[in-house]
Amino acid sequence: MSGAGAGVFITLEGVDGAGKTTQLRRLAAAFAAAGRAVIETREPGGSPGAETIRRLLVEGEPGRWSAETELLLFTAARRDHLERTVAPALAAGAVVLCDRFVDSTRAYQAAGRGVARRMVDDLHAAFIARDPDLTLVLDVDPAEALARGAARGGGEARFEGFGLSFQQGLRAAFRAIAEADPDRCALIDAAGDPEAVAARIRAAVADRGFLP
Ligand code: TYD
Repeated sequence: MSGAGAGVFITLEGVDGAGKTTQLRRLAAAFAAAGRAVIETREPGGSPGAETIRRLLVEGEPGRWSAETELLLFTAARRDHLERTVAPALAAGAVVLCDRFVDSTRAYQAAGRGVARRMVDDLHAAFIARDPDLTLVLDVDPAEALARGAARGGGEARFEGFGLSFQQGLRAAFRAIAEADPDRCALIDAAGDPEAVAARIRAAVADRGFLP
């Protein structure tokens, strides 16, 4: 599963409502315009089995799962997604754009909910063993992001249910992840106009040589 293939694996990370989904769509259009085969996917989910696990994770009461059980469910979903969707697409030479990946587990389950970071990294090494070529960390004030998220509605609010201070801790965790791994990660100012955020993302992707 660790074979890099010929494709490019890019992940988007950030607090709930940071605008990842919109930006992922725009970035996919930029790659398509550059003549690349591109797939858009997300976690938890992105394959039929992982989408089934997703429903267990994002619906229901905040206290539904312990942090440790969450870690196992997210990792199980990630493994299925990797096997069925990500690895085959990379092997075929596609650009894979993924909304969230292991950095979300580091932020939400380790920094946010107190699981040992070592457990997250050990499971990642054992069962996933694939890091993104580039991770775009969308950085925005969680109050602004939560307002956007609430406006979106839907029944998937379990993590928003942990509250604003939880989200503020996540922001700090994502910033620390980006800072600790600057070769892989680019920290993107995601406040304000989506057009301007998209331009910052394109610049970061081009800077790493993934877009002309
Ligand atoms: P997502 O659909 O990306 O939510 P949003 O669009 O609000 O950003 O992800 C669902 C929730 O799952 C989100 O609140 C973050 C959480 N999550 C984790 O806690 N750990 C993980 O490893 C992943 C991938 C997501």
